[in-house]
Amino acid sequence: MEKLYVEGNKILNGHVIISGSKNAALPILFMTILTEGKIKIGNIPNLTDINIALKLLVYLGVKITGNETLCIDASSINIFCPPYNLINKIRASIWMLGPLLARFGKAKIFLPGGCKIGSRPIDLHLNGLTQLGATINLKNNCIDAYVKGRLQGKYILMEKISVGATITIMSAATLAKGSTIIDNAACEPEIVDIAKFLNTLGADIIGAGSNKICIKGVLKLTGGTHQVIPDRIETGTFLVAAAASQGHITCHKTEPKHLTNVLMKLTEAGAKIKTGKDWIKLDMRGKRPKSLNICTAPYPGFPTDMQAQFALLNSISKGIGTITETIFENRFIYTSELIRMGAKIKIKNNTIICYGIPKLISSNVFSSDLRASATLILAGCIAAGITIVNHTYHLVRGYESFPKKLNKIGANIKII
Ligand code: UD1
Repeated sequence: MEKLYVEGNKILNGHVIISGSKNAALPILFMTILTEGKIKIGNIPNLTDINIALKLLVYLGVKITGNETLCIDASSINIFCPPYNLINKIRASIWMLGPLLARFGKAKIFLPGGCKIGSRPIDLHLNGLTQLGATINLKNNCIDAYVKGRLQGKYILMEKISVGATITIMSAATLAKGSTIIDNAACEPEIVDIAKFLNTLGADIIGAGSNKICIKGVLKLTGGTHQVIPDRIETGTFLVAAAASQGHITCHKTEPKHLTNVLMKLTEAGAKIKTGKDWIKLDMRGKRPKSLNICTAPYPGFPTDMQAQFALLNSISKGIGTITETIFENRFIYTSELIRMGAKIKIKNNTIICYGIPKLISSNVFSSDLRASATLILAGCIAAGITIVNHTYHLVRGYESFPKKLNKIGANIKII
């Protein structure tokens, strides 16, 4: 999918079913490397990032069958150096490193790819594995890692909160000798889900979801069954779709508890929100939202992955709103496209200042990354006229059937 035709002036109303979480499913798939037991994983979203992850696993020798529920057998892995042309497509490929090292004592992995939203180093992943006893050589964009015998449990104080590095260290420590404590760990719901999955396989992890995770290493993991959590960012994106268009929406098969901060901000913008066990209902009651002041932060703070969607909301809200980005240094590229659509946006250091206007106008815009793609499509839905959104190949990496789901709630989006 390269280019989308998006008709504007839409009010988005209706029901949407939320898919499984991309950011939980990806690491969980790579965690299957840790065991020779048979694994069943449900609620896997249909995304290109997931397809690349599956191709990488198959390349290593993993047997995989099924679609939304996958049966995975990693008992006969016999390759430890996956190809560059797959690795460089997704950031998540770094999560092969810890499990390969922990189970086989060796791995050779090229540096990962992913959204261009900053320099995105992997030093914290590599430092963590080194502290667990691995020897790591980085040469010609390739990580060559090995350990003699088992990794060794250790107290690891993370100098910065990192979702990715917490996952790498937690996965490697499951098979280490002795106990590991990850201090200043990331607390994201995806980390809790990964720990739950690993515990199902016989790992001994406590404290996931807090900033101190304790992992008692075990000799071997077994097989097991797991259901991936709902995608909180997809949920948040659809809630913004309804809020920005002054409509109403019910998101089903989601987890309201994972969106506390996002729901708080939407309420502050004037939305009426109700939640149940696995649904969230938002009603904007035909009103223009009020501008918000937001600062992104590690969970339970406001997610950086919702920054662009809320900048769109602020663009058409009443008043002046600010969003300060504290996680990634280069996540504002999309603002120039919103400006092309008439948004009044200024950037000062790491803060976006939006002077809200009543209506955006259609344009020919280019998306720069995954969340920017979704944001520009939503902008097109509410702008006056027809918007063409280019480079939407980013979108299918992280949103399952996004145009189709939006069309079901009143949008008119066509793939060109
Ligand atoms: C994950 C998510 C991404 C989300 C981000 C923050 C996936 C596939 N991606 O990305 O959608 O936006 O969490 O919630 O799950 N850092 C270092 N060294 C490292 C690792 C990270 O300096 O080794 C820095 C990063 O540049 C960034 C900050 O730490 O400034 C947080 O990054 P991290 O939490 O690791 O994000 P990702 O795991 O890459």
